Amino acid sequence: MIRDINSNYCYDIHHNLAIDYVNEKLSVGTCCQSGRVISEKTSIEGLWNINELKKIRSENIEGKLSHTFCNSCTKLEKTGNISRRYASHEFYQEWNTDKKIIRGLDIKLGNLCNLKCTICGPNSSSAWIPDAKKLGINVSENMYYKKEHNKNLNLTIDNIDVIENLEMIKFWGGEPLMDEKHADILEQLDQLGILKNCRVVYNTNGTHRVSDRIINLWGKANLVELYFSIDDIEDRFNYERFGADWNGVVDNLKWYYESLPSNHLFYLMTTVSYLNIWYLPELYDWKKQNFDTNCMGDENKILLQPAIGICSIDTMSDRLKNKLLNKFKLYPDLINFLKFPKVKNDYLPTKFFDYTEKLDQIRSTNWKNTFKEFEAILND
Ligand SMILES: C[S@@+](CC[C@H](N)C(=O)[O-])C[C@H]1O[C@@H](n2cnc3c(N)ncnc32)[C@H](O)[C@@H]1O
Ligand code: SF4
Repeated sequence: MIRDINSNYCYDIHHNLAIDYVNEKLSVGTCCQSGRVISEKTSIEGLWNINELKKIRSENIEGKLSHTFCNSCTKLEKTGNISRRYASHEFYQEWNTDKKIIRGLDIKLGNLCNLKCTICGPNSSSAWIPDAKKLGINVSENMYYKKEHNKNLNLTIDNIDVIENLEMIKFWGGEPLMDEKHADILEQLDQLGILKNCRVVYNTNGTHRVSDRIINLWGKANLVELYFSIDDIEDRFNYERFGADWNGVVDNLKWYYESLPSNHLFYLMTTVSYLNIWYLPELYDWKKQNFDTNCMGDENKILLQPAIGICSIDTMSDRLKNKLLNKFKLYPDLINFLKFPKVKNDYLPTKFFDYTEKLDQIRSTNWKNTFKEFEAILND
């Protein structure tokens, strides 16, 4: 049965489970953007059945969305934006909705990461912690990634009934390809005969290749989707994805192109911020010339998402928007993307300038040198 989206019904609440590794504990929610509760449980069945999630499900059947858990969707919907609930509603319509319980798992494998991307922070990247402290950002105890704790924390599958209809499992972090915890989960799914039905999805920064063990497991999945987080090219990429080396990432993309079993799709996941918006046409051109398809000839699509936080383009000026519209003339996807940000006349992103200048002092970088053309446009 297809549910009415206006009734507040959210498919994810009833069919998705989000799990985060927080050092020695797991925390759970309904999707990647929902609130979380820490739990003592470590089995998927146990986490699925905790009282908080049961309550959210029964309230949702009565037409309510949880204030604490679903805030990010309700806020977006109030301002006329597309929420995850809306987006997933369309997605679930393609599924056979008579099937029972968990269809999607969304797993954040802690915040272990080798990079400190400008748009990111210590909540997602352990490498960010020293810089965050210098910036005066609050670093909570949970942000200190403790490998020895996570090593002993194993997500288990005790009851196959809860998980047998699983169709998608998504891994993110941190950098999910930095340790093989995800492979342990895939191995369990394989042994239960479930992996063959699953789309296995990763958000990755592209700085790591994977072992033969993982290639072998991926070959047993229904489909593997790798979303490479690439927002720009060359020196600007190195600035934005601080700690990464553009040439190394390009070599890795070639390696993935040559090494993966045929059941895969690649994407570029591009987060649009003040740092890269001016240069997006160059990313599109680079992709066309260097990484346009996988080895089977399927297109490697670019997916654009807006950055949240200090580098967000949410309040760009009318003048800047018009300049961008002019620059993006030959790029329909980019023109489409520009429909969303609101404009604020004569607004100079001073908070963004302050932030990048402080970061430059900490990192001995200079954003004005790296983004010369855009800096001139902003100050024009
Ligand atoms: C937090 S990362 C974790 C996975 C992996 N390390 C990666 O970079 O793909 C997941 C995604 O969030 C994006 N991201 C980071 N900071 C963001 C922000 N402030 N707003 C929106 N997306 C952001 C990243 O670019 C990436 O595509
Ligand atoms: S690679 Fe991913 S998790 Fe790491 S700092 Fe960048 S966006 Fe954050």
